[in-house]
Amino acid sequence: MSFITTKLKALNERQHQHTPELEIKEPSEGSRLVTRFRFDVDQVMRHVRSKIFGQEETLHRLEEMLRIIWSDITESDRPLYVALFLGPTGVGKTEMVRALSEAIYGNPEALCRIDMNTLTQEHYAASLTGAPPGYIGSKEGASLFQIEKIEGSYSKPGIVLFDELEKANDQVIYSLLNVMDNGLMAMTSGDKVINFRNTLIFMTSNLGAREIMDYAHGSLKNSLRKLLWFFRPSNWGRNEQDFLRDFVLKKLEKRFSPEFINRFDDIFVFQWLHQEVLGQILDRNIQSLNHRIQKHGCQLHLKESARKFLIEEGFNKQYGARFLKRAIRRHIEIPLAAQISQRMQGEVSVVFIVRMQDGKLHFAAEKKENPISGKIPSEATNEFIDL
Ligand SMILES: Nc1ncnc2c1ncn2[C@@H]1O[C@H](COP(=O)(O)OP(=O)(O)O)[C@@H](O)[C@H]1O
Ligand SMILES: [Mg+2]
Repeated sequence: MSFITTKLKALNERQHQHTPELEIKEPSEGSRLVTRFRFDVDQVMRHVRSKIFGQEETLHRLEEMLRIIWSDITESDRPLYVALFLGPTGVGKTEMVRALSEAIYGNPEALCRIDMNTLTQEHYAASLTGAPPGYIGSKEGASLFQIEKIEGSYSKPGIVLFDELEKANDQVIYSLLNVMDNGLMAMTSGDKVINFRNTLIFMTSNLGAREIMDYAHGSLKNSLRKLLWFFRPSNWGRNEQDFLRDFVLKKLEKRFSPEFINRFDDIFVFQWLHQEVLGQILDRNIQSLNHRIQKHGCQLHLKESARKFLIEEGFNKQYGARFLKRAIRRHIEIPLAAQISQRMQGEVSVVFIVRMQDGKLHFAAEKKENPISGKIPSEATNEFIDL
C-alpha cells in the first residue's frame, strides 16, 4: 500500500501535544522493533485504566487490540479497528475514547468527534461527505471530518468517535458503510478521498438505555420479563449483566441492518456502575479537584463518612456517573468555592477536612503546616479513616 505509507510518512511530523510522562523512548540499539508505531501499549493502558473504572472486559479487549495494532500486522486496506460501545448512559463509553486519545496524544480532544445527534435528517449525510457539485460549500468540500485527526501520523493512529449513533438519520449511518469496510470515504465533490486506514473508529450508542432503566427500576411488567429470561434453561447460571447484554444486542439488531452490524470488529455492552466502582470514580474526581484547587493553596480531604454519603447520593442507574458528578458539584464544589472565596482575603493555605456531622457535610479548615512547600498535615493523607 504505497498510497497510505507515503501519505503517513508525510503526516509523520504533524504537531500533536504530548504529556511528558507519556513520551515514548526511542528503541535501544540492536532492538528488533520493526513496528512503525511509537506509543507504548502498557503506558497507554495504564493511563486509560487510571481514568475508567468498572469496564474491565472492554479495557482488556482494548489492550489486546492495541497490541495487534502496535505490532503492525493488521490488514492495510481497512481501518485499524472499528468498535461499537453500547450500554446505559454515563458509564464511560465516550470517556474511554477520550482517555485513549489523551494517552496516545496527551490530549483528550485529539480525536475527531462527530456528534451524531446533530445529524438527524437525511440530507445531513452531506455534512460528512461534503456538498454535491454545484451546491453551496461544494468547492470548499466542507465536511465535519477533521482530516489530520482522522489520519493520525506515521507513528500514531488517528482516532474517530461517532458519538450517540442511534440519533443519526439512517442515510447518515449508511454513508459510513464504505468507511467501515475499506477505510475510504469519497467526498461528494469528487476530488477528495478521506483515508481511514490508519484510524481507530469508535461508535457509541445509548440504544435501549431507556428500557435498561425501566428494568433497573423494576416495573412489574419488566420484572416479570426479566424473571422469564432467567427461567429459560439456556440462561441458567447467567447474571444480570448477561441479561442486559442480550437485551441491548436484540435492540441493536432491530435498529440496524446486519450489513452494518457485521462490519464491527468488536461490539461491547458496558456495565452498570456498582457502588464500589462509584467509590473509585469519586476518589479520582476528588484527586483531580485537588489538582485544580492547588493554585489556591488548598487541599480537600474526605473522611470515610463523607465518602459514603457522596457515593449513596451519587448512585443512580439511570444517569450513571453523571449523577455522581452532580452530587460532587452540589455537596462539595459549591460549598468549597464559598470557603475558598471567604479565605481569599486572609489565610488561604488550608486543608479542608470534610466529614458528616448532624446529617450534613461539614467542612473544617485546617492550616497547612508549611504553606510554601504545600506540605499537608498528617491528618490529610489519602487514607480514608472513619470517624
Ligand atoms: N466507568 C467510568 N469510570 C470513570 N469515570 C466515568 C465512568 N463512567 C462515566 N464516568 C464519568 O462520567 C461522565 C460521563 O461519562 P460518559 O463516558 O460521557 O458517559 P456515556 O457512557 O454516556 O458516554 C464522564 O465525564 C466520566 O468522567
Ligand atoms: Mg456518551
